[in-house]
Amino acid sequence: MSGGTGSGVGAVAPAKINLALRVGARRDDGFHPLNTLFHAVDLLERVTVRPSAGPADAVEVRGRDARAVPLDRSNLVLRAAELLRDRAARREFSPVEFLIDKAIPVAGGLAGGSADGAAALVALNELWGLGLSRERLIALAGELGSDVPFALHGGTAVGHGRGELLSPVAAGGTLHWVLLTDPRGVSTPEAFQMFDELRAGAGPASPPPIPGELLDAVRSGDPWAVGAGLVNDLEPAVFAFRPELEELVARARLAGACGAVVSGSGPTVACLAPDSAAADVLADELRSVHTAGDVLRASGPAAGAAGA
Ligand code: C5P
Repeated sequence: MSGGTGSGVGAVAPAKINLALRVGARRDDGFHPLNTLFHAVDLLERVTVRPSAGPADAVEVRGRDARAVPLDRSNLVLRAAELLRDRAARREFSPVEFLIDKAIPVAGGLAGGSADGAAALVALNELWGLGLSRERLIALAGELGSDVPFALHGGTAVGHGRGELLSPVAAGGTLHWVLLTDPRGVSTPEAFQMFDELRAGAGPASPPPIPGELLDAVRSGDPWAVGAGLVNDLEPAVFAFRPELEELVARARLAGACGAVVSGSGPTVACLAPDSAAADVLADELRSVHTAGDVLRASGPAAGAAGA
């Protein structure tokens, strides 16, 4: 950050894994109705915001995949500032500059951009003294993107609608993950478009339900039962772009994962381990198999966006 005035306000927000992603037919507004089971993990984005001496809002990005992050209006931290000025009817709020410290891969299916948007809402609420409640911030977050409300909510939650309508689920224990990232991201709109093409008008309009066995498994915290229930209706679409990921999911299971699934629109493959020590062993094992990208450790459920 350069040229700013005053001290900054920071916030962090977590990545998400979809333990279940059930997808219905494309709606008239272009979105797909979902039944999804979101799970936040402790891979955290950090956003710091402070008043700027410059003429307009600005953003600087450091960390993982920093060069792949857009600096224009499509960046969700800039849209968060616009949204809050608009909703607070305070256009006079002076320009701000953001620093994003990235830990979540870009276009990885882990909602990294959404985490930035959620952290920006929390930090701006504090910087500008808006006093908006978490519930109000979560409602506003849905205007930034389908996954932004969950990045504020955190924990484990069922998502309906296009993913923005949340019902909390009380998770029974910590889940230990190995995340296989890939530097070649998959675009979310393209994954949904491929889903439409593969279905070719067939299939139910409403999304299938989240399996009851999976919800029970999450509540009881049994990793083997959770692993057996992981499901993602977008996988065939993601595999159409990236056939090697299907093999990677199978290899993770063979290497001792309780289950493995593409997260969201991919390409990150989330592998669930029986416990923390087993996750370290699994990560070591998968490093020799997965050389195309990184092998990261994470655990959840993690808290939603908060000041830090
Ligand atoms: O809401 P968000 O901006 O993250 O969505 C990005 C794109 O992903 C949408 O424009 C749409 O193409 C696709 N999408 C979808 N159905 C959803 C969520 C996202 O088709 N439920």
